Order: sequence, then structure tokens, then C-alpha cells
Amino acid sequence: MSDLISRLRNRQKGYTLEAPFYTDPNVFDTDMDVIFGRHWLFVGVEPDVAEPGDAMVVDIGKNSIIILRDDDEEVRAFHNVCRHRGARLLHEEKTVVGNIMCRYHAWVYNTSGELIHAEHMGEGFDHSCHGLKPVHIRSLEGLLFICLADEPPEDFDKMAEVMAPYIAPHNIRNTKVAYQHDLIEPGNWKLTMENNRECYHCGANHPELTVPLFAYGFGFAPEELSDTEREHADQYACTLKDSHKDWEGIGLPSKEVDHLDDMVTGFRTERLPLAGDGESHTIDTKRACKKLLGNLTNARAGGLHFWTQPNSWHHFLGDHAIVFSVLPLDAERSLLRTKWLVHKDAVEGVDYDLDNLIGVWMATNQQDSDLVGFCQQGVRGEGYVPGPYSPHTEMLVEKFSNWYVGRMLAHLSDASSAAA
Ligand code: FES
Ligand SMILES: [Fe+2]
Repeated sequence: MSDLISRLRNRQKGYTLEAPFYTDPNVFDTDMDVIFGRHWLFVGVEPDVAEPGDAMVVDIGKNSIIILRDDDEEVRAFHNVCRHRGARLLHEEKTVVGNIMCRYHAWVYNTSGELIHAEHMGEGFDHSCHGLKPVHIRSLEGLLFICLADEPPEDFDKMAEVMAPYIAPHNIRNTKVAYQHDLIEPGNWKLTMENNRECYHCGANHPELTVPLFAYGFGFAPEELSDTEREHADQYACTLKDSHKDWEGIGLPSKEVDHLDDMVTGFRTERLPLAGDGESHTIDTKRACKKLLGNLTNARAGGLHFWTQPNSWHHFLGDHAIVFSVLPLDAERSLLRTKWLVHKDAVEGVDYDLDNLIGVWMATNQQDSDLVGFCQQGVRGEGYVPGPYSPHTEMLVEKFSNWYVGRMLAHLSDASSAAA
């Protein structure tokens, strides 16, 4: 433990982490305890559990969590563990329940988690002491976050206050999951997150993703630009400013807010213009779904980016939204879960073509997964030493690593001083 604390304390700012942070199973276990055990994690959307009785199971390390909509339409979360002898209760990722009956000895819980039936337990047995163990859950405009800690970070409310007006126009509660894809990336979860926090690699690796992206939207070294490039960069800066003004004028909050490393519940948002026809993040830059989200009347709502620490990013467009969660599997593998959301009344084949809807991110995710795998292979070897982040295009990667180091130190230093 003291070795880990000194590694964290000695981390060189602006550089990637030392190899054990990406490879060591002991560090991984600490990550699961400190980061994934004590922070707000994005796990899905309200449309995953649209109706009373709809249940979803999400595994976070050794913990399996049931998320369900109860009979009063409230979304709740419980540990997926029977209070009798600990059997796992639900075994499928998505299911529909009336009550939850354990297969082992048939204890029955209602959708509020109360134990309502347990045979042969004797007269003194108190049902009310054996309800399912609840997990904190919050919905931010339909995006579901859980926290496994007894006392979750309180600044979720601050994030929610800032973000709600940004997300509300896209009305995520009124969408459906058109498609979900699970991809196991061959890398540590931090490599997946680092990869997501920059677009330095986009030009060389994402032919589909970059179609509607502006080349100068993700940072550049000003001194390396030719006169023409400088002109294009200036044009982009004007486009961004004008777009923000136009969107704000029609009630679409757009300006950048960045608290990636100065809040416990770190987050960032910004609405960015799209190139070409500018309607959506598709190969032809036109909308992928005829029915727009929420009350939007114009598809040209740009792309609203919302990123959270430690495990999610989201893109809200005029016609669809894509939400991503990273769920670590072990030190060297991570599950990337992607969901594509469209208006709940949109009909596949009529309002949208599924291949067109998911094409860009299906390709992009695989490309990113390959890149993450290359890094994982590299950090295993003796040739690896921490390398420098670009100050022009990888500022947000630095903020991710800085947040991680800060959160780990906050918990580990407390724990070690309590033990001393
Ligand atoms: S373990 Fe669930 S009823 Fe016995
Ligand atoms: Fe990428």
C-alpha cells in the first residue's frame, strides 16, 4: 500500500502513469475499491427499465447490481444477492419480474426490495430485517448513475444542476435503446478512458468518425500551422462561437463547462458544431433517424458531449444519442458498453436504418479497442516508461489521470492515517 501511495505521490504531472497502474492486479483491486466502489458510475438509461417490473443487471467487479423499475414507477438499485444464503438472484442482463424469487429456497422479494415470503424460518424471524441491500441510484435526465459506497459523493447534485438543462432538450426518458453493443477491450480501464479523452489519434485512425468533425475542434499546436491552416483554425473558432450563440438563443445550452479534475464527481460538457450537412454523426452527416429527440425541431443541434469520471462519455445529437460506459473486468480487460438511443416512437426500417444509425461508432469503437490493446501490449514490456501528453491535444487526458491520482490519494492517505 505504501508503495502505491508513493507511486501516486511521485507521479510526474503531464505524463502517462507508471506501468503497474495499467497491469498490476493489486492496483486493479484498489481501483475497484477506491474508484469504482466510492464514486458515481454511469450504468444505463431509464429506457433500459422503461416499465414497472423491467430489470437490468450490471456487474461492477465482484458486485452484481439489479436496477429495476418498481411498481410505483421508481427506479431502484439493489445488490443482486439473496439475503438468505447469498445466492445470485437474477442471471440475465435484462428481464421482467413480478416479484423476485430466489431459485435456491424460494424467498420472494417485491420490486421495492422487501422480503415478502420466506418459508420455514420460524416464529421469531423478522422479514423486515432481510430486504435486499439497496444501492444508491440517481437519474440525471434519464441517465442512470449508481454509487456502491454507503455515503456517495455529494457533488452529484452540483453536476446534475449544471447538466440537466443541457440534456433535457434531448429528452432521454422518452427514447428507446435501438441497439446495445458490448465490446471487451484488451486493456486496462484507464487506457480506455485515456483514449477517449483526446482526438489526437482521430485523424489517423477514425475515417468514419472524423467525417462530420472539424479538424481544428480538438486542439493543435499553433506554432506548427501554415498560414492557410491558421486561417481554417480561425474560421473554426468563429463557427464555434456563432454556433454557441445561435443554440443558446433557442434554449440549447452549449458552452463548455469543465470540472474534470476539480470535483469528486468530475465531468465536462460542450456542444460542438458538425461539418458537412451538420445534422448528425453519420457517414453522410445527415440525420440517421427521421424522428428528432425531445422537442427539437431542427436536426442541426450539433453534438452535445458529456463526459464523466471515472467511466462514461455520451453524445447527444438532434436525432439520436449514444451513451458509453466502461466497466473494468480485470487489470488488462475492460467492457465497453455502448447504447444507441432514438425517439421511443421511431420505427426501425421506417424512421431509421439500424446499420446507418450504429455504423460510425461500431467502426470507431473497434478502432479504439485495437489502439487500447496496442498500449496494453506496450506497457507490459520493459521498454515502457511514462510518456508526455501533448499540451495542445491531450489536456483532458492529463485531467483524467490527475483526477484518478487525486481520488486515489484522497482515499488511501485517509486510510493509511486512520491505520497509523
Ligand atoms: S439463498 Fe436465496 S432463498 Fe436461500
Ligand atoms: Fe478514438
